[in-house]
Amino acid sequence: MNRNDISAYWDAKAEALKTDPSATMKDVILRSLEIEAIGRRLRTDDDLLDVGGGNAFAGIQWAQHCRTVHVVDFSEKMVAYGREAVAAAGAANVQTERGSVLELENFAGRFSAVSCIRVLINLPEREEQLRGLDQLAACVAPGGRLFLIEGLEEPFAAMNAMRKTMDLPAIPLDWHNRLLPRQALEQRLERELKIEERVDFGEYYFLSRVLHPLLVAPEEPTFQGRCNQEARRLWQAGVAQGRFADISTLVLYVCSRPK
Ligand SMILES: C[S@@+](CC[C@H](N)C(=O)[O-])C[C@H]1O[C@@H](n2cnc3c(N)ncnc32)[C@H](O)[C@@H]1O
Repeated sequence: MNRNDISAYWDAKAEALKTDPSATMKDVILRSLEIEAIGRRLRTDDDLLDVGGGNAFAGIQWAQHCRTVHVVDFSEKMVAYGREAVAAAGAANVQTERGSVLELENFAGRFSAVSCIRVLINLPEREEQLRGLDQLAACVAPGGRLFLIEGLEEPFAAMNAMRKTMDLPAIPLDWHNRLLPRQALEQRLERELKIEERVDFGEYYFLSRVLHPLLVAPEEPTFQGRCNQEARRLWQAGVAQGRFADISTLVLYVCSRPK
C-alpha cells in the first residue's frame, strides 16, 4: 500500500463512477447513514470543511444544513467530478479543491465544523494517520466541532468473529485500507479536542453483514437488498441503538474544541 497506488485507485474510481455516490463506497445505504448522522448535527451558521470529500456527494447534501461547505480531496479526478456535481446541483455555497489531509495548514482554526469520512484509513503509515488527526483538529475554530468517521480494528475483528461463528467467511479488508486501533485514535483526538459523542452503526452491521448473508445464502447479498433497507430504517428509528456497537467498524466521533 503506497500513496501513489492509492491516488491512482481513487482517480480510477472517479473516472469509472463519476458523480455517483458509490464512487467512494459500495454500500451506499451505509454511506447515507454516515451523511445523515453528520447532517443532523450541523448548524445553519456552520462553515464546514470536508476533508477527503471525494466527488462532493456528501458535501452537496450537507450544504442544505449549513452556511458553506469547502471540500478538499487529493484525487484530481474526484475534485473534477465534484465540481461537475456542484454545478449540476446549483449548490452555490459549495467549493471543491485539491488538497491533502496531511497539509491543511492554510485552513488552521478557520472552520466551525470539520468532517472527514474514511480518509485516514487510506494512509499507509500509522504515524501519518495520527498526524492527519492533528491536522484535522487544528482546522477546528474555538467552539467548533470535528465529525470524524474512520474504521476501527477491534469492531472489524469482532464482526468477523461473529460471522465465523455462523459459518460465514471473514470479510477481507480492502488493500487500500488500514484500520485504526480505537485507543490510539481516541488518545490522539483528546490531545486537542473533547470527544462528545460516539455514534455507531452496529445494528446496520449486524443485519447487513451477518443476518442478510445467512438469509440469502447461497446467493450473495446485494448492498441495496431489502434487509439492508430495513436495517437503515431500524438505525434511523434508534430502536436498537448502541446494542451492536462492538461490531460497528465505522464510528462517528463528534469532538469539540473549547471556546
Ligand atoms: C473512502 S473515500 C471517502 C470519500 C468521502 N469522504 C465519503 O464519505 O465517501 C476516501 C477519499 O479520500 C481521498 N483521500 C485519500 N487519501 C487522501 C489524502 N491523503 N488527503 C486527502 N484526500 C485523500 C480519496 O481520494 C477518496 O476520495
